[in-house]
Amino acid sequence: MSSSKGSSPTTGRAGEYDEWFLRQGRHDRGPEWNRRWFSEVAQVRGELDRFRPADEVLELACGTGLWTEQLARHAKRITAVDASPEVLKINRARLEGSRTLVSYVRADLFDWRPDGAYDVVFFGFWLSHVPPARFAAFWDLVRSALRPGGRVFFVDSLATERTGRGRTPEDHTTTRRLNDGREFRIVKIFYDPDDLAARLADIGWRLCVRRTENHLLYGFGEPRA
Ligand SMILES: C[S@@+](CC[C@H](N)C(=O)[O-])C[C@H]1O[C@@H](n2cnc3c(N)ncnc32)[C@H](O)[C@@H]1O
Repeated sequence: MSSSKGSSPTTGRAGEYDEWFLRQGRHDRGPEWNRRWFSEVAQVRGELDRFRPADEVLELACGTGLWTEQLARHAKRITAVDASPEVLKINRARLEGSRTLVSYVRADLFDWRPDGAYDVVFFGFWLSHVPPARFAAFWDLVRSALRPGGRVFFVDSLATERTGRGRTPEDHTTTRRLNDGREFRIVKIFYDPDDLAARLADIGWRLCVRRTENHLLYGFGEPRA
């Protein structure tokens, strides 16, 4: 992610991220909207359960642990990577007491190589922040982290009427506002599921990319041999 005003959206937003995901405070859009959001999140969690992220799992841009705790229901070990020490601290506290061993790595994903081979690589709400020029390199990184037979699962935002309003296909940024009023310009790309699956097929992935009714995009699969 990148910023144009203020210090850093990841530092400033660490404590606020969950409010967005949990539809609290200014992110509460009313009972009907919230019900649909949580039902679609539950749908993706169900897909993740069916996918079974077992054994050695690498989670990229793990954030505060909203998905780490879902992965921990299946994984033997999780390596969770994020650039922000603030979110890693929240994640560690959330996963305290989990039977799954979670190791934390503070790193910039655009300048990091995995030190092992994993059965599953997972990333939530991260692909939309990868700048277009880094798209192929990011998927190379994912490939390099997988052992033979390894698989990937990701979830992200779908453009909604609100988030996609007024955007042209070439527009890859959006304004992120914090509770204190500070604003940051960040990379945020909304993919069409079929286009994304086709692009990934072109660079050697066999991925099933799907959407929920309103809010979420998710995909799973593996690299072609
Ligand atoms: C939108 S949040 C998603 C967090 C989490 N995956 C989730 O779904 O709850 C994006 C995360 O990417 C992290 N991040 C941003 N830029 C990064 C970078 N260059 N390298 C590693 N992590 C980064 C942020 O700190 C933040 O935790």
